[in-house]
Amino acid sequence: MKARPHQAKPVRQFLPLAIALANLVGCGPHLSPGEIEHSLEANSQEVAIDLTSAFTPEEIAAANFQFIKDKVFTPHCLKCHASDVQRGDVNLEEYSTAFQLRREIRAEVAADRMPRRAPPLSPELKELLFSWIDNGAREL
Ligand code: HEC
Repeated sequence: MKARPHQAKPVRQFLPLAIALANLVGCGPHLSPGEIEHSLEANSQEVAIDLTSAFTPEEIAAANFQFIKDKVFTPHCLKCHASDVQRGDVNLEEYSTAFQLRREIRAEVAADRMPRRAPPLSPELKELLFSWIDNGAREL
């Protein structure tokens, strides 16, 4: 697994402090407590997104259909491959049809042909998806 970039961390830690200090000395943006809280919230959301971009070996080993759907299919595929929009007769919303198509899914994603009209999946998402398929594409 690739090392996580550590670059953003100091910024994340010191941003709230910097805002608080700037407010104290009266320079910089005059933020109300509510605004500061909001900016902290936005900040912690960034952290959450950062953390979900990589999966632990435990998460990868435990991945079932619901997990794959949440992390891969829903955000990247269901726009074109859901029960109500089955482009190319592909439905990735239901386990049975996704399971039947697991080899095609792997091949399409490995070749960066899918997702169509979008950037390729990240290496982390590919690793998660491929290992789910290679381990039998479990439903539960
Ligand atoms: C913008 C629409 C769009 C998105 C998003 C999309 N697809 Fe597709 N997909 C298509 C279309 C259209 C086809 C049928 C034509 C073709 O095969 O080129 C297709 C076909 C397929 C096929 C069948 C290929 C075959 O062997 O016949 C698979 C499997 C597939 N997509 C998987 C995925 C997966 C997995 C994702 C998400 C990572 C995804 N697609 C995202 C539009 C999309």
